[in-house]
Amino acid sequence: KEHLETVREFQADTPEAIEAFRIKYLGKKGLLTAFFAELKNVPASEKREFGQTVNQLKNAAAEKVDALREALEAGKQAETRYGDLTRPGKPLEVGSRHPISQVKYRIIDIFSQIGFTVSEGPEIEDDWHNFTALNLPEYHPARDMQDTFFIQTDPDILLRTHTSSVQVRYMENNKPPIRTISPGRVYRNEAISARSHCFFHQVEGLYIDKGVSFADLKQTLRYFTTALFGKSKIRLRPSYFPFTEPSAEVDVYWGLETETDYRMTKGTGWLEIMGCGMVDPNVLENCGIDSKTYSGFAFGMGIDRIALLLHQIPDIRLLSENDVRFLRQFRSLR
Ligand code: PHE
Repeated sequence: KEHLETVREFQADTPEAIEAFRIKYLGKKGLLTAFFAELKNVPASEKREFGQTVNQLKNAAAEKVDALREALEAGKQAETRYGDLTRPGKPLEVGSRHPISQVKYRIIDIFSQIGFTVSEGPEIEDDWHNFTALNLPEYHPARDMQDTFFIQTDPDILLRTHTSSVQVRYMENNKPPIRTISPGRVYRNEAISARSHCFFHQVEGLYIDKGVSFADLKQTLRYFTTALFGKSKIRLRPSYFPFTEPSAEVDVYWGLETETDYRMTKGTGWLEIMGCGMVDPNVLENCGIDSKTYSGFAFGMGIDRIALLLHQIPDIRLLSENDVRFLRQFRSLR
C-alpha cells in the first residue's frame, strides 16, 4: 500500500529516470515480480486483499510510465515547434540619442529659454540661399572659404555649406522681430581627418529687431557659453565673414590647460567655438528687410566640435562610424 502512494506521486522528466522507474517496478526482476511470487506464502485469509493490492500497484505503475512518456513526448513536440520554452527571453535593446543629437538638443534648450525658435531648411540648396543672398556673389573670393559640393549637372544646386541658408529663407518668409536658431547637417569638400570631415553639424542663430547692438550679441554669447560649459571665459577675436560686419570669432577658455596632451587645446586652453557678427545691411536688404529700421546679429557653431570638446573625443570620425561600443558610452547622458 505504501508503494501505491509512492508510485502515484512519482515524477520524472528524462527518459532515463522513467526507464529506471519502470525497471524497478515492472522489470523481470522488479518489485511486482517479487510481490506476485510472495502471493503463495500469504495466508489464505489475506490472499484476496494482497492480490488486489498488488494488481492495483501493477496497473498504477504501468499507467504512470505511460503518462510520463506521453508528457515527455508532448514537451519535445512543443520544443521543436516553439523552441526551448524554458529559455530566458531576449533582452530588449533600448536605443539612445547620438552624442551629436544630445548636444544639439542642449543647445536648442538653452536658446529656447531666451525666446529663440527652431527653424530648418533643405540640405540641397540653391546658390542664392547658400551664397548670393549672403553677400557672396558669383566669383567672390570668399566662396573659397567653404569648399563646396556641387550637384554635377547644375552649378546652381549644391549641398549647403552652412545653415546660414536657412536664415535667408527665414528672413524671406518672416518679419522682424526675428529670433531663431537653425540646426542641421552641412557639407564641405574637405579632406577627412581626425579634426575635419566632409559633413558636420551646425547651429546658427539670428536675431533681428530695432536697435540690436554688438553688446546684445556679446551678452547672448556669454549666457550661452555659461549655460553650456559652466563657469567659463570667452574672448572675441576680430575676423571676417562676408555676411556680417563687424565679424568675430569666439574662443572659450575652460581650464583644460592641465591636460596638455589633449589635442584640441593645442596647449593653450583657448578654444575657438564659433563665428559671429552684426548682419551686413546688404544681407538684410537681399532678404527684404529694411536695413535702416532693423539691425541684427548672427552666429554659427559646429555641433561636432563642441561634442568633441565636451566629451574629450579624440577623433571626429568616431561620430559617424556608428560603432555601438562608442555610442553605448553616451547612453546614460541626455
Ligand atoms: N556661416 C558661418 C560658417 O559656417 C558661421 C557664421 C554664422 C559666422 C553667422 C558669422 C555669423 O562658417
